[in-house]
Amino acid sequence: MNKLLDLISEEMKKAFEASGYDRELGKVTLSNRPDLCEYQCNGAMAGAKLYKKAPIMIAGDVAEHCKDSDVFSSVEAVAPGFLNLKVKESFVTAYLLQMCREEKFGLDMPEHPSRIIVDYGGPNVAKPLHVGHLRSGVIGESIKRIARYAGHEVIGDIHLGDWGLQMGLIITELKERQPELVYFDENYQGEYPQDAPFTISELEEIYPTASSKSKEDAAYKERAMDATFKLQSGVRGYRALWDHIIRVSVADLKKNYQNLNVEFDLWKGESDVHDVIPGMVEYMKKEGYAYISEGALVVDVKEETDTKEIPPCMILKSDGASLYNTTDLATIMERMREYHPDRMIYLTDKRQELYFEQVFRCARKTKLVEPETELLHIGFGTMNGKDGKPFKTREGGVMRLETLIQEINDEMYRKITDNRQVDEEEARQTAKVVALSAIKYGDLSNQASKDYIFDIDKFTSFEGDTGPYILYTIVRIKSILNKIREQGGKIEGNVLREADSDSEKALMLQLTGFNAMMATAYAETAPHKICAYIYELANAFNRFYHETKIVTEENEEKKSGWVALLLLTRDVLETCIDVLGFSAPERM
Ligand code: ARG
Repeated sequence: MNKLLDLISEEMKKAFEASGYDRELGKVTLSNRPDLCEYQCNGAMAGAKLYKKAPIMIAGDVAEHCKDSDVFSSVEAVAPGFLNLKVKESFVTAYLLQMCREEKFGLDMPEHPSRIIVDYGGPNVAKPLHVGHLRSGVIGESIKRIARYAGHEVIGDIHLGDWGLQMGLIITELKERQPELVYFDENYQGEYPQDAPFTISELEEIYPTASSKSKEDAAYKERAMDATFKLQSGVRGYRALWDHIIRVSVADLKKNYQNLNVEFDLWKGESDVHDVIPGMVEYMKKEGYAYISEGALVVDVKEETDTKEIPPCMILKSDGASLYNTTDLATIMERMREYHPDRMIYLTDKRQELYFEQVFRCARKTKLVEPETELLHIGFGTMNGKDGKPFKTREGGVMRLETLIQEINDEMYRKITDNRQVDEEEARQTAKVVALSAIKYGDLSNQASKDYIFDIDKFTSFEGDTGPYILYTIVRIKSILNKIREQGGKIEGNVLREADSDSEKALMLQLTGFNAMMATAYAETAPHKICAYIYELANAFNRFYHETKIVTEENEEKKSGWVALLLLTRDVLETCIDVLGFSAPERM
């Protein structure tokens, strides 16, 4: 379905043409002065030079040719040569009626859908999720959903950190504590036990202990490196322990991500490409891409046009060990082989920008991907506390994600139950749903690359540019619809009418922008555009609501048109928040 702005522009272009001017001058944009008009066209200004004529004269000619338009209710030429435009109510209503009939409210589906892999989350096993993991999960989930809604085939991969020294450290610490475990008996031939010799809480304590020991004790670190080596070379007992670590940790991660409404299609990790690394390295050497530099195996990735120094991409360390780079490159190779994606999108902290630049260049140069395969890194900014420094606990430590979520849930519960008699169970449930909107909207409403301040008071407020405000608006619509239903009014089968008031028209106009907004959000991988849109939509709805007595309206036709408008507004809002990765309760 055409975008509304394109239809309006087309009408304006016709008027330019009919007045004897270049039709391309007729491009229309949203108004900079909503107090004066709804849309504007600056083509007469641009035409002044071309036609050696005062812009106001050109604008006057064009306005004259818009007199019989089905689109414009008013076209004003104003000094020095702007065209201020208002559209007809009938035009807006016709557009919305079609939007209701179309699938996805008139968002065009791609002729050739892309296959996209989104690599996000990226937690490390055996380490609890902390606030630093929030953004990758939240933004990645939304980008995945936007692409899916836009009609593409999208695969979300968590890309677990499950293979490096951290695993060796855990195994080493376990051996210190329980040397008698059968996993450490080299002569053991039988089956290993089904149950892990540790719980998730133990595991989460073991890792930091091992990590700090290794920093102080060189021999301990040596043992951990040896354990890592043994694990990677396939020693049975170590593999069995590793399986336990993964299983226990992944079960916990699943629970945590579920609480965030984040779902991965693939739970692959760095370990999955271990076996393909030797072949990849061989290939890079054989083709002459990789060479030895100071003992290490590297691929040059600098380009002539570089303005800053881009160091070579290291493939193997001088001791032959693989690196973070190596697994990412091998993963790209595997993804191409298994899924042949058109695009791969990575979400990490923006401090990894240079790193991904190197990896992507290396993947292109060594032809692990095809020339048209798109590789995109979205680097996000830091989540800061109110002091402007990276978010910490009150004691100054790293805050666990679970703790953060719990704090917001509690705050939301307090707000919901404040001065009210409510069912405890229902209030807890509602608090959870609203809290998630507070966290996610607070994050997503910022451009991803920017740092932002995680401000609990602001994010959980029911007023302003927040998740709870959006949910509150949706719940308000639902409650009006319920009242009408209780009165015996019908909800289905109503038809939109022409707007009766300015606020109603403004709401309708905001609704017409859905397809254009969603197309942009996909093209620019920009969830914040959806937030900005629904914030405006919620504002437009609330203005209309405050000026209109919907439930008590006696004119049945009017009321029926409003019910249809309410339903469309609710559906568009709910579609948008679903794409952002949260939902609205029935009541709150
Ligand atoms: N596990 C990594 C970390 O904690 C993040 C992984 C990001 N994804 C990737 N393909 N490198 O830093």
